Amino acid sequence: MAVCARLLVLSLWGLGLASTMEVPSLKMNNGRDMPAIGLGTYLGFDQNGVVKSKDKQLRDVVMRAIDVGYRHFDTASVYETEQEIGEAVKMKVEEGVVKREDIFITTKLWNTQHRRTEVAQAINDSLKKLGLDYIDLYLMHWPIGLNADYSHSDVDFMETWRGLEDAQRMGIVKGIGLSNFNKQQLERVLKEGTIKPDAIQIEVHLQNVQKEMVEFCQSEGVVVMGYSPFGSLVARHGSTVEGPKIDDPVLSSIAQKYGKTTPQIVLRWQIERKVVPIPKTVNPKRLEENINIFDFTLTPDEVEKINGFDTHTRYTLPSFWQNHPYYPFDKVDNPIADPFIKV
Ligand SMILES: NC(=O)c1ccc[n+]([C@@H]2O[C@H](COP(=O)([O-])OP(=O)(O)OC[C@H]3O[C@@H](n4cnc5c(N)ncnc54)[C@H](OP(=O)(O)O)[C@@H]3O)[C@@H](O)[C@H]2O)c1
Ligand SMILES: *[C@@H]1O[C@H](CO)[C@@H](O)[C@H](O)[C@H]1NC(C)=O
Repeated sequence: MAVCARLLVLSLWGLGLASTMEVPSLKMNNGRDMPAIGLGTYLGFDQNGVVKSKDKQLRDVVMRAIDVGYRHFDTASVYETEQEIGEAVKMKVEEGVVKREDIFITTKLWNTQHRRTEVAQAINDSLKKLGLDYIDLYLMHWPIGLNADYSHSDVDFMETWRGLEDAQRMGIVKGIGLSNFNKQQLERVLKEGTIKPDAIQIEVHLQNVQKEMVEFCQSEGVVVMGYSPFGSLVARHGSTVEGPKIDDPVLSSIAQKYGKTTPQIVLRWQIERKVVPIPKTVNPKRLEENINIFDFTLTPDEVEKINGFDTHTRYTLPSFWQNHPYYPFDKVDNPIADPFIKV
C-alpha cells in the first residue's frame, strides 16, 4: 500500500491538537501518486437544486482539512464547490502550510459538455473557479451525455474520452479517468482509448462491495475511488436506510479491538482493499476522525467479515436516465422522475 508514503507536517488546530501522520499514496497509470483518502465535498441536493456552501463554510472545512492532513479533495463542476476549495488551497499555500504540488484535486466533467470540443472549455472553467493552472485528476462524471436542455444526447462517451485525452496532452489535466462506468464500458475505454484511465470513481461501501469490479479495475492499473463510503451507517437522502448502523455488533467488536470507531473501521476496510475512500464531512471532529485510520491494519479475516455485508445496494441510482443508451446500471420497474429536467 505504502507505494509512496509522505510525511505530513505537524499541524495544530483548535485547542492545540498536534499530530504527525503518514497518508500513503497509490500509483496511477500516469506514474503519479494519488493520496489514499480524499475529502468528499458534495453538499447534497434539495428542491432548490444543489446545496451551496453558506458563509464560506466549505472553504473553512477545507482549510481545517489541510491542517489535519488531508491532501486530496474530490469535487465536480456540478457540486458548485470548486471555488471555495480553490480559495482554501490558495490561503494554505500563502500561509506556507502546503505547496500546490502537495495538493491533489479531483474534479469532474458534467454530462452536458460531452462533445470533444467542449471538454477543454469545461476544464478551463473549472480551473478558473479553482484558481489553478492544472487539475490532478479529471473524471467523466457519467457515461451519459445530455443536451443543454437535459434531453438525452447520443454523443458517444468515446468521443468525450478523446476530449479528456486531448486535455491531458495539453497539460491542463495531469490525469484522466471515469466515474459511474460499468465494467463493459470501462473495457471499451481500455480497448479503444489511446490513454489508459488513471482512476475510476464508483460507489463502494459495505452494502456495495463491488468485488469483481474493483479487482478488474486494479488488474488494469486503474485506481478505484469509493464514493459514499459509509454506506448504511449514515442517513441517505435524509432518511435511514436498511443495513448495519454505527452500533452494529460485528463492526463494533472490530472497532473495540483497535480502539477505533465503526466509521473508521469501514474506511480502513477500503484502505486494505486499495480503494480510495472519499468520505464527506463538514464537522471538525469527524474530519479528524475520518483521516485517523493510518495507524492500524485489519486482518484478512476482518476484511472478509466486512465483505459479508454486501447486498449490492446502490444509493446513487439515477433511474430517470435509464432509457439513455449509455445508462450504466440495471433498469428498475418504477424509475423516479428526473430532478434535473429543465422545463
Ligand atoms: N461520482 C459520483 O457520482 C459521486 C456520487 C456520490 C458521492 N460522490 C463523492 O463522494 C463523497 C462522499 O459520498 P457521500 O457524501 O454520498 O457519502 P458519505 O461520505 O458516505 O457520507 C456522508 C455523510 O456521513 C456523515 N459523516 C461523515 N463522517 C462521519 C462520521 N465519522 N461519523 C458519522 N457520520 C459521519 C456526514 O455528515 P456531516 O457532514 O454532518 O459529518 C454526511 O451526512 C461526496 O461528497 C462526493 O465527493 C461522488
Ligand atoms: C484552455 O486553456 C488552455 C491553456 O490556457 C488553452 O491553451 C486552450 O486554448 C483553452 N481552451 C479553450 C477551449 O478555452
